[in-house]
Amino acid sequence: MLDLHSHILFDIDDGARRIEDSLEMCRVAVRDGVQAMVATPHFLSPLFDVSPDTARARFEALVARVRDEEIPLEVFLGGEIYCIPEIAARLRDGQALALNGGRAILVELPYEIVPAHFPQALFELQSAGYRVLLAHPERYAEVREGGRFLDDLRDRGVMLQITASALTGEFGPQEKKLCRRLLEEGRVHVIASDSHSPTRRAPGLSDAYREAVRIVGPSDAERLVEANPRGIVERGALA
Ligand SMILES: [Fe+2]
Repeated sequence: MLDLHSHILFDIDDGARRIEDSLEMCRVAVRDGVQAMVATPHFLSPLFDVSPDTARARFEALVARVRDEEIPLEVFLGGEIYCIPEIAARLRDGQALALNGGRAILVELPYEIVPAHFPQALFELQSAGYRVLLAHPERYAEVREGGRFLDDLRDRGVMLQITASALTGEFGPQEKKLCRRLLEEGRVHVIASDSHSPTRRAPGLSDAYREAVRIVGPSDAERLVEANPRGIVERGALA
């Protein structure tokens, strides 16, 4: 399994605090059956001021320790990019990082309202050749309330990444039900942990994978935790 969304880089955002926490997250992931992880620190967020240079430095340090400690985990660098109006320009300036340096990006929105600039920002990103994977749709009010938003996303070619622990019920029955519905409707492309520490939204995808098997069957579930995320990370495209 490949976990495409995680905050395993230390001392950079609200994820791992120290490199030991990062390493423990890697070990927890491996014990759960994860073979590859993408480190996706927050970029352009109003809450964290993260520079790509710092992210690269933390990533190099982590990769070196993972290798030294012989943890059998492949680690990629990417980012979770907050959708500000100038998101396409900031990507062009190198102020935010695409997934594994490719053409796919993980984007997040504010939870309570989809900003008015979102369609234009999306258009600019896609015109620049980026494929957009939207993080945790189950958390957005606009998705909860139903309506056209989900169909708009599909029509515009936006891929969706739901959170493993939301699907297994860690965030309560409502988010679980919503994740289930998104899966049943065939709207989900990736399940990822969005893990922040060894224990809080912990790494690992196997429980969510099993839940997905019950909802969409084994071959679709496998696509959501392995083939799709790997395709996006390695080639910028779905399996
Ligand atoms: Fe995240």
